Amino acid sequence: MSQSPLVDLIRNHTARVAVIGQGYVGLPLAVEYGRVGFAVTGLDTDQDRVVPLNLGRSHSPDVSSEDLGALRREGRYEATSDFSVLEQSDVVIICVPTPLRKSKDPDISYIVAAAEQVAARFRPHQLVVLESTTYPGTTEELLLPMFEARGARVGENFFLAFSPERIDPANRAFKLHEIPKVVGGVTAACTEMAALLYRQIVGRVVPVSSPKVAELAKLYENVFRNVNIAMANEFALMCRRLDVSTREVIGAAASKPFGFMPFYPGPGLGGHCIPIDPFYLSWKARASGFEARFIELAGHVNGHMPEHVVDLVSQSLNNQGKAVHGSRVLVLGVAYKADIDDTRESPSLDIMTTLVQRGARVDYSDPHVPDLELAGRKLRSVPLTAAKIRGYDCVVIATAHRDLPLGEVARSARGIVDTRNALRGRKSKKIVRI
Ligand SMILES: NC(=O)c1ccc[n+]([C@@H]2O[C@H](COP(=O)([O-])OP(=O)(O)OC[C@H]3O[C@@H](n4cnc5c(N)ncnc54)[C@H](O)[C@@H]3O)[C@@H](O)[C@H]2O)c1
Repeated sequence: MSQSPLVDLIRNHTARVAVIGQGYVGLPLAVEYGRVGFAVTGLDTDQDRVVPLNLGRSHSPDVSSEDLGALRREGRYEATSDFSVLEQSDVVIICVPTPLRKSKDPDISYIVAAAEQVAARFRPHQLVVLESTTYPGTTEELLLPMFEARGARVGENFFLAFSPERIDPANRAFKLHEIPKVVGGVTAACTEMAALLYRQIVGRVVPVSSPKVAELAKLYENVFRNVNIAMANEFALMCRRLDVSTREVIGAAASKPFGFMPFYPGPGLGGHCIPIDPFYLSWKARASGFEARFIELAGHVNGHMPEHVVDLVSQSLNNQGKAVHGSRVLVLGVAYKADIDDTRESPSLDIMTTLVQRGARVDYSDPHVPDLELAGRKLRSVPLTAAKIRGYDCVVIATAHRDLPLGEVARSARGIVDTRNALRGRKSKKIVRI
């Protein structure tokens, strides 16, 4: 183990930890370190995030406001936009967004901005870990030179690693401390230091030989999901032609106890990770002359699903002798997945936009998203009463939140498109399934 004084600071939980980016990833991580006794600062450029956090109000489904408030009172958590705290930080973890540009190229400007803030205040014996999902090579090609230019000697008086975040917001089965953490340092000493840091909050750390391996491991996980979901989606389109229930086929196949893992069709991909991250990899591959065909194909298949859902709406209306144009359609769930309020990249938005373009009168209902802006129009979530539901020609179940009154929907709706198999077990001619 390194002789650095940082080792004892981490072991004694007296290291001062700064987490840059207090979003879905950074906040739960900061709180976890606070919970085990570290003094943690959550840095965020967005005042609308910082102010409520300091009032003990959490925006994350994985952090309760009670827990956050308790850490605040005990002086173990504070949010700020003042980057000068980095001058005192022993450990800095970067959890900023990594979106795509319109051209589908990676936008790493947030990582660069955050890393510049840290490097400008470099102090010896600091550990810096990047958690944001990014293309392979980011840690060593982009971050390392910034610190070396300030006199950092990596593995000696400075430790740099990549450790991908794997959080699944609102997942009750797997909490942050139960999910193994992959860690790849620039040198062996960096890996050891970062592994020591994460062992303070998670049960299992998986060291790998370099940041690039850790960066690629995260991308491979997300490509794996993306491609398998695409296969399930394409399979669903085939099953429709063959007049077979996709779910029944997948359910039967899933009875095989080895060599098979079920994935299910849906309205398309959403969120900050699965639809975006694979393009970080295909971009990097393309730069070295390699075409990532699976990624491109999966993107194509998944990207077509919202339009397929609109076709199913059209079929549901057709069954009632109606056209899309002029019909009233209610979309249930605009968050990209169940039980959260995150609408980023949500396929529901594409479904609604296309329906509006085809002349439908579209509303939505989502207990987690009270209002929404769609193509310049401000919409409010519709309360789900039996009378309201009866007023629509078709109800699209796009996100199966736990607290949706699905029984009432099944009873009162005139036509239903169920993209999530939320009404499993119910037999009715008015339900069109994906
Ligand atoms: N959300 C997930 O489920 C998830 C899961 C695994 C990995 N990730 C990855 O983690 C990273 C962060 O994702 P997220 O969902 O937490 O994003 P988010 O948008 O919820 O949060 C990011 C936060 O960073 C802040 N920020 C932006 N630039 C900053 C800067 N220069 N300095 C300080 N703060 C800054 C933003 O204001 C925002 O509050 C991404 O790379 C994402 O791909 C996300």
